Amino acid sequence: MSPAAPDKPANLEELLRFYAEAGHDEALTEEPINRFAKPARAATEGKAQPKRAGTPPLPSPGAPPPGQRVTVPAPPAPTTVPDEQQAMRARALAREAKTIEELYEALAGFDGCNLKVTAKNLVFADGNPQARIMLVGEAPGRDEDIQGLPFVGRSGQLLDRMLAAIGLDRTSAYISNVIPWRPPGNRDPSPLETEICRPFIERHIELVAPKVLVTLGNPSTKLLLGTQTGIMRMRGKWAEHETAGGAKIATMPTLHPAYLLRNPAHKKLAWRDFLEVKMRLNAPD
Ligand code: URA
Repeated sequence: MSPAAPDKPANLEELLRFYAEAGHDEALTEEPINRFAKPARAATEGKAQPKRAGTPPLPSPGAPPPGQRVTVPAPPAPTTVPDEQQAMRARALAREAKTIEELYEALAGFDGCNLKVTAKNLVFADGNPQARIMLVGEAPGRDEDIQGLPFVGRSGQLLDRMLAAIGLDRTSAYISNVIPWRPPGNRDPSPLETEICRPFIERHIELVAPKVLVTLGNPSTKLLLGTQTGIMRMRGKWAEHETAGGAKIATMPTLHPAYLLRNPAHKKLAWRDFLEVKMRLNAPD
């Protein structure tokens, strides 16, 4: 499809429909931002301005009187292009965090992941960090981005019911995601974006040190268990997540609640996995 001319209402409607179908369902700001445009200052900085011989330059309308200092507005923050250096920075920052609060501060101040630019909020965690169980999903969706909390949309409501079925809620469980910023339009995070976010979730798990870790769905299972095997073969079997410090955490991979909403016939599989989790939590340490 060729891009529509924005001045033609009929094409504009078609263009909006195209965006909606592609998952771009929300305007991030009131006005469009051209992130590829050169900042006003950069366009003229360092370049010799052409002079007209003999005539002083004409002041443009609204220009300050000669000699008065002008404050040039800062150019918009450049979009961060993720690279391996950002992954290195993330690893160093995450390693330095000695508490969950420090990790939160480190992540909130980290600007090395482009997903932060389009997200409304950092989605760090919800629940009780002292809990014996930690559940990790993939990435926040629209509702989570708005509220700044993981699993608060439809799949979160299902997750709450699954937890309730084994006698847990958000006062006795702790919930987070591999990716702490909503990818625009809910697209899949790129491998590099995931690599940049990985040290933070790994450190997060290490600091919480739960008795049981539950990975929800494929991306979180593959990342935290270091496997390429799909969730359908991994689910229901105990595995171990090894922290950077060498601790081994019993891990139950299970189906993601969003998948269960689309495939309710598979809820019985997740139910079995959660019963396993309940037994493990009740077993003596
Ligand atoms: N899906 C996820 O993986 N995480 C959320 O927080 C919400 C939906």
